[in-house]
Amino acid sequence: MPTRHFLSLLDFSSDELRALIHHAIDVKTRLKSGVAHTPLTGKVLAMIFEKSSTRTRVSFETGMSQLGGHAMFLSPRDSQLGRGEPIEDSAKVISSMVDGIMIRTFGHDRLEQLAAASSAPVINGLTDKLHPCQLLADMQTWFELRGDIKGATVTWVGDGNNMCHSYINAAKRFEFNLNIACPENYQPDADIVANAKERVTTFTDTMEASKNSDLIVTDVWASMGQEEEQTERVNAFSSFQVNQQLMAGADKDALFMHCLPAHRGEEVAAEVIDGKQSVVWQEAENRLHAQKALLEFLMGDLTF
Ligand code: CP
Ligand code: NVA
Repeated sequence: MPTRHFLSLLDFSSDELRALIHHAIDVKTRLKSGVAHTPLTGKVLAMIFEKSSTRTRVSFETGMSQLGGHAMFLSPRDSQLGRGEPIEDSAKVISSMVDGIMIRTFGHDRLEQLAAASSAPVINGLTDKLHPCQLLADMQTWFELRGDIKGATVTWVGDGNNMCHSYINAAKRFEFNLNIACPENYQPDADIVANAKERVTTFTDTMEASKNSDLIVTDVWASMGQEEEQTERVNAFSSFQVNQQLMAGADKDALFMHCLPAHRGEEVAAEVIDGKQSVVWQEAENRLHAQKALLEFLMGDLTF
């Protein structure tokens, strides 16, 4: 059987993704009850970080340890990746010694080159284009609090970035309706939208987009690698903040999610992210549980 990778949510079927979420909830319950679950004993995950991270690193490293395995942190600064060794050569060598590779990098093509040359499963820990692991955690959070998300209305407010793209893919696989409100020059990739066009509606007005929504989601205005655009982005995005007025127009039981790190007073008002409808801390913790289910599926004997 060819090696399975997780570069995008679209690499998995709807049934596989739902089964993964249910397994993540089960794995979380076992952990909280103090029951050891070590199906990856002796296995090693290499983690390549070409961009910064708190949640992704801590969750993968903790997750591997809890599953009985080991995680190895590799940064370009102190590996040959930073000195120009081709990613394909690195992939061949690293995958000959470990059982899985997680990479966080810039161009999505670099991730695809790594996966093409790797004999071990590759996990996308974020690229400029997609952040699928975050969506596993977001979906787990929704399933825990509200049940299946099929048929719900989700609104994305802000940048048409890697998180927005992954929400579009999630809408397709989990069958929810996604309203998107982004500034004119910061729209999501047209091909990604076209692939899920039956699920996606675009808006210019954030209040219109969020009306009666069940879940409101946003992310930073300037992603990693876009730091120099911060000032022009603050100007372009100033009317795209998730604030109390916007939440008041959504369904009264609407939830608020944000992948974090957040900039209070920019993409989200402090009263929203620190308010009653926000589930960002549960969402962040679920990175651990959702990725443990993913690691078990790709590197262990778990089948769905
Ligand atoms: N949400 C997320 O991926 O966080 P980190 O950048 O801290 O990993
Ligand atoms: N869009 C953000 C997500 C960080 C987790 C970025 O790429 O920086």
